[in-house]
Amino acid sequence: MASQPTAKSSNASRYLFLFLIGLVIGAVATVMAMRAIQSRQDPFPDSVMHVMQKHAGLLGDKVAQNRCAATDTVPHVRALRTMANDLELALPGLAEDQRFVTHASDFRAKLDASLATPPTGCTAAKALADQVKESCKACHQDFRG
Ligand code: HEC
Repeated sequence: MASQPTAKSSNASRYLFLFLIGLVIGAVATVMAMRAIQSRQDPFPDSVMHVMQKHAGLLGDKVAQNRCAATDTVPHVRALRTMANDLELALPGLAEDQRFVTHASDFRAKLDASLATPPTGCTAAKALADQVKESCKACHQDFRG
């Protein structure tokens, strides 16, 4: 009779132990699965977009701060232009689509025009920053779900 409670409590701790083992294995398996899914995704397309977002944002900041000399804006336009070269490379599935290529080409053409004749005042710089945003929006409207 005296051994009965001990057996019960050892059962309970065995279940608790198994439960904890299960939790740990579950957590490890989840992390492994998430890593595997993540490693299958190519970070390049989103990286191209995020670099462009950063420079488009910085360009807008310059205008907002009334810093509109060519030396303020041109570095960001150049960075945007470099990334714009990679739009088709980043999204090869869309590079077959004529509308996508047109959006990308229009964007590059606008940036080229602005590099050829950089804005010299805040009115022109603001127009440029707005044009950049419009280009992003135009393509996103068609291709970002
Ligand atoms: C020629 C088309 C095109 C242009 C131009 C374009 N984008 Fe994109 N962008 C896309 C597509 C397509 C996606 C969705 C990509 C995906 O998730 O696979 C996207 C996604 C994004 C994302 C989300 C990325 C993520 O992590 O999910 C950001 C941010 C972004 N774009 C910013 C910009 C900015 C800023 C500009 C302009 C300076 C811009 N894009 C110009 C096509 C374009």
